[in-house]
Order: sequence, then structure tokens, then C-alpha cells
Amino acid sequence: MLSVVNGVTARVRTGAQALLAANWREGVGRDGTRFGYTCPDGAKYPYQWFWDSLMHALAWKEVDPARAAAELRSLAAAQRADGLIGHTVFWEQPVRASRLLFYNVRRRSDMATATIQPPFLGWAWAEVAECLGDPDFTRQGRDVAARYHGWIERERIDRTGLAWAILPDETGCDASPVFDPLLPWRRHGTPGFTLLVAAARRHGFSFHRIRAAGGFTAACPLVNTALALGYLGLAAMGDPSARARAREVTRAIVEHLWDDRASIFRVAGPDGRHVPVSAWQGLAPAALPDLPDDLRTRIVEQWLTCPTRFWPPHPVPSVSIDHPRFARGDGRIIPQYWRGPSWPFTPPFAVPALLRAGRHEEAAVLVARIEERLDGQGFREYTDPIDGTGMGARAFSCQAVALTLRAWLDRPPIPVRA
Ligand code: GLC
Repeated sequence: MLSVVNGVTARVRTGAQALLAANWREGVGRDGTRFGYTCPDGAKYPYQWFWDSLMHALAWKEVDPARAAAELRSLAAAQRADGLIGHTVFWEQPVRASRLLFYNVRRRSDMATATIQPPFLGWAWAEVAECLGDPDFTRQGRDVAARYHGWIERERIDRTGLAWAILPDETGCDASPVFDPLLPWRRHGTPGFTLLVAAARRHGFSFHRIRAAGGFTAACPLVNTALALGYLGLAAMGDPSARARAREVTRAIVEHLWDDRASIFRVAGPDGRHVPVSAWQGLAPAALPDLPDDLRTRIVEQWLTCPTRFWPPHPVPSVSIDHPRFARGDGRIIPQYWRGPSWPFTPPFAVPALLRAGRHEEAAVLVARIEERLDGQGFREYTDPIDGTGMGARAFSCQAVALTLRAWLDRPPIPVRA
């Protein structure tokens, strides 16, 4: 058996459970809707964030599946009539006035942003549903995820078959250097970013209108991987057409985002041209079951497990450590995220990729290193990939997803079994 439960694993489990409980928020929202979610960090992140919530649900599943279901039902309660579930939901309080320039809301009273985050709702819901075994919950997941995917198909997918982001933070990787060449003076964490948000707001946060006006759009391999995983989950919950949709999205990722010379996936800008920055988003498609195995092997061997690239002592860095734009920290007074440090959102894609590639040993090593770091440093938001120093928020509950990674070593998740 790969996952031997030792003292470190046991302590991480206790710490993760306590942190999830401490960050749990529930009540009745400003619009009268009941909510219950885990805030990523009590001090820094008070709202419900979309992909954080999916990570939290995966983590809760290991210790309290009913709570995992409640977390997802809260996201479902934030679903708009047209199917969108926003990047951030402001249940109890409107977005802080000081943040209005940065947040993707039309007006301050909005319950949620009008933008997305990596859309793997269907996958997380299916994983929780499998554990819960409640047909009503599965049925609800099928309905909510199908409507959510419907919105993305109508509002974000163009003729390439890819889903496009209209702001960098929709990829979850806010200030990643993949956006530097596309947004030289308007990237996340710079004053110019407020103008990018203002332009998107003027266009009603509509991809089609922004595209028509020649504005910023990007096709990200991570976002599209998340979309394909969402379809896989939908298929696992009994949607008859979703399995084929996962295959189509994977085909579009390969056709439009694969850089054969470099053996990695790229972000593409509005004109479809690749951005030659080696960031972890380019490894994410290795988790997809329909990816040709030779591409997966090239990504895993040449990038993910390469010690001079994405496999330093504390993987997985957000940028390849041999890339000129790699930075060990966030480096500024206003932190610039995803420019090098290792974040907890990455391993839930990297572990399935390693398992699917038959690299069980490396998957186990990755999980063990994460656990050792959490045991030593606590549940910090992100980490220096070289020396393991924790940075950012101090009680960041997405790190609890380490529980799920440990469980996957024994029972692989849906993308590995599909
Ligand atoms: C930061 C991260 C984003 C995350 C959010 C809340 O903005 O870049 O991925 O969802 O914090 O934790």
C-alpha cells in the first residue's frame, strides 16, 4: 500500500479538520438565501470563492461528506437563472467599497461577480456524490452542472471549441507571467489592472462583446482542463452527452494550445497566438483521460518531474524554476500572485496526471512533501518552492485538500478511472 498513515499524516488530518471547521460560515444571505461555505481565510478572504469552494468540498468529503454537500449546495444557491455561478459570492456583505475597482461586479449590491473561475464544478460534485450515495444530491449536481456548462458553452466557447477568459483572475492564477506579454501595463496587481476591469465592466463582462471590440481574451489550458473535468463529472452523474463533450474539449486543447517543440501547453492570446511562458497551467491537461498518452508522458517527464523545472524540493511551482520570469516570492508591496510559489490548487491536477501516467511513486512523494510542509509551516496560502517558506494568508483552508490527495493514492479520482 502506498499511503502509509504515519504521525505527519495524522497530524495534518487533525489540523485540516480543525481549520475547515474554523473557516466554516453559515447563515442567511442578503437576498434571503441560506448559505454554508468555507471561507479561504477568516482574515484575508471572507467571501465564498468558486474554485476554493470546490477544493474545500473535496477536502470536507474526507472528514464530513454532509458538509462537503452543503458547501456545493451553497454554490448551487448562488447560480443565476442563466446558469452562471460567479467567481466570488458575497453572501453576507457587499464587496468592500475599496475593492470595487478590482472586483468583477456590475454594481456594489451584486451578490456575486459576473466572471468565472476554473470550472470543474461537475468533477467536484461527482466526487462528493459518489461518497455520499444520495440520489437527490446526484440529481441536483447533474442539473446544476448541466446549466453551468450550458452558460459556458453559450457565453465563452468560440469556434475553436475552447472556453475563453476575459480577465486573468478567471484562470485562478491572477498575476501569472503568462499574461505579461498580453497585458504589459494592465496585468493583475498593477494600477493598470483597474482599467482592464473597467473596460470589461463597460462591455457587461460579456466575452462576445469584448471579442467584437478587440479587447483582452485568453484561452488557458487550465481553464479548459477544468472544463473537460467538469464534463467528466457530469458524465459520472449520468448525463448521456457529457463524456463526448470532455473528449471534444480535450481535442480542442491539443489542437490549439499544444506547443510540440517545447512539449508543453500554452496560453493563447486574443489572436490565438501562444504565449511562450512555461507556467503550471501548461501541465494541467496531463490530468485528462483523453489526452494522447505520449503527450502526457512528455509533460510528466520533461516538465512536471524535472528537478530544474517543476520538481524542486517543494512542488509544484506556479512557474518553471528555470524560466527567467520565475520568482520565489510574491515580491511586492501589493503581492503579485502565481509568479513562482507553489499553491494548493495545483496538486489536485498534478496528482491525477501522475497517477494516470503510472507514476505512483512520484504522486506519493508529492503528497508526502505537502504533508511535511503543512506539518512544519502550518496551512499557509502559498510556498517558496525552493526552501518551503510559507507565505500569504495564515489559515488557508484550501490546503486541507491534502487529505483528498492522500485518499486518491489508494482510490484514484474520476479522471484516472474514466
Ligand atoms: C487569490 C488566488 C485565487 C483564489 C483567491 C481566494 O486571488 O489567486 O486563485 O481563488 O485568492 O483564495
